[in-house]
Amino acid sequence: MSDHTDNSHEHIDEDKRDFIYIATGAAAAVGAGALAWPLVMQMGKAADTLAAGSIEIDLSKISEGQQLKMLWRGKPVFVRHRTPAEISEAESVDIAQLKDPQTDDERLMPTPDGKLDPKYLVMVGVCTHFGCVPVGEQGKVDAQGEYGGWYCPCHGSHYDTSGRIRKGPAPTNLEIPAYTYISDTVIKVG
Ligand code: FES
Repeated sequence: MSDHTDNSHEHIDEDKRDFIYIATGAAAAVGAGALAWPLVMQMGKAADTLAAGSIEIDLSKISEGQQLKMLWRGKPVFVRHRTPAEISEAESVDIAQLKDPQTDDERLMPTPDGKLDPKYLVMVGVCTHFGCVPVGEQGKVDAQGEYGGWYCPCHGSHYDTSGRIRKGPAPTNLEIPAYTYISDTVIKVG
């Protein structure tokens, strides 16, 4: 995988670089760099080629509190290993207060044994207002919004630790992409 990293950057447009961010220490989480980096390297190919792409992610390589950010079908995807506090916050919200009511459980996909693992939140990292990429660096108050999740600096949308819209102009929660668990710790997006 490391062999691919430098080469792949040669194929990435400058304006797409922001999306190809993988949190420090989480690079190994990309299930077989064989899947993720070639996807990036194919960005010049036809859209239908990319549309068929899928990526596998080994969740066990993402440390608690870390977020993996990668490109899937031309969009950033966020995979966050939430802390117990973030999970508790997400689960304690009265959904009647929400603009786009959804429980935290409704935003998770089941593991192979049919259970939910609230540690891992997988979302499309595109603001539902006009499509900017929200920031969500936990520990930095000015980079995670007023609800401890994500913040879109374009027009000030605040998302909570479940990626639900809590304040600002975005009409709906951050989208959950189609993904499935192919083992207890590996997901396939797309
Ligand atoms: S694009 Fe995010 S708030 Fe407008």
